[in-house]
Amino acid sequence: MSSLTPIGIFDSGYGGLTVMREIVCKLPRYDYIYLGDNARAPYGPRSFETVYRYTLQCVKWFFDQGCPLVVLACNTASAKALRTIQQNDLAKIDPQKRVLGVIRPTTEVIGNFSDSKNIGILATSGTVSSNSYVIEIEKFFPEVKVFQQACPMWVPLVENEEYDTHGADFFVKKYINQLLDQSPVIDTILLACTHYPLLHDKIREFTPADIKILSQGEIVSNSLADYLQRHSEIERKLSRGASHHFYTTDSTEDFDRHAANFYGAEIRSSHVDLDVQKV
Ligand code: DGL
Repeated sequence: MSSLTPIGIFDSGYGGLTVMREIVCKLPRYDYIYLGDNARAPYGPRSFETVYRYTLQCVKWFFDQGCPLVVLACNTASAKALRTIQQNDLAKIDPQKRVLGVIRPTTEVIGNFSDSKNIGILATSGTVSSNSYVIEIEKFFPEVKVFQQACPMWVPLVENEEYDTHGADFFVKKYINQLLDQSPVIDTILLACTHYPLLHDKIREFTPADIKILSQGEIVSNSLADYLQRHSEIERKLSRGASHHFYTTDSTEDFDRHAANFYGAEIRSSHVDLDVQKV
């Protein structure tokens, strides 16, 4: 274990890098480590039990690296694993540690972006079937109607670097139309998957200009800054060396080649083999 006590940022693969980029920009002083569970991605189509098991294993890995705080920068993991980890596992592993997700901070503010109070959610099948966005938005904005559309082809398009090609047009149009067909007055669409910001320009192209398209990075980074201000007992534990370390459970060559698209800067990652970690 190193002497660093960094903020841990987790995703099933590359997508969380779009969130980490914004967090580092907002909170540059801290040390960060990122883990992409690329060897077992995508999480989107997997069962609750599997996503929970994989995510918990990764969270324990972050704790072993000294992280006092882990952000699940993955909607699917936030939807399917976060609550159980917070309510059942943390008390047993280490009650002083914290794990946060991306759904709660988004649903706390999203209603403020919509005038028509009709909001569309584009996400993985797993996030949509969990109904997490519908349930959480109802708590903060009961007047808002939420419409969801699963976009199972979008993560593969992004991961295969087809996000800005004509080949992507069919599936981008298809899911946007399926969402907008559910309500003629949707005025705000949330990209509720960390991969989707790479498709932003395509999504914009096929969405009426008066509809807002929101990505989560800025919302999550603002929320984390606010959380650290309110929780000085956690903030005090974080080391401040402005270092960034990146880990993947799969090939580092692949990770480094793809990651720059998500992070906006070149990355040199290290491999971690979770199978040899104690679970
Ligand atoms: N990063 C995941 C999310 O935000 C999507 C990728 C996956 O399916 O693993 O939901």
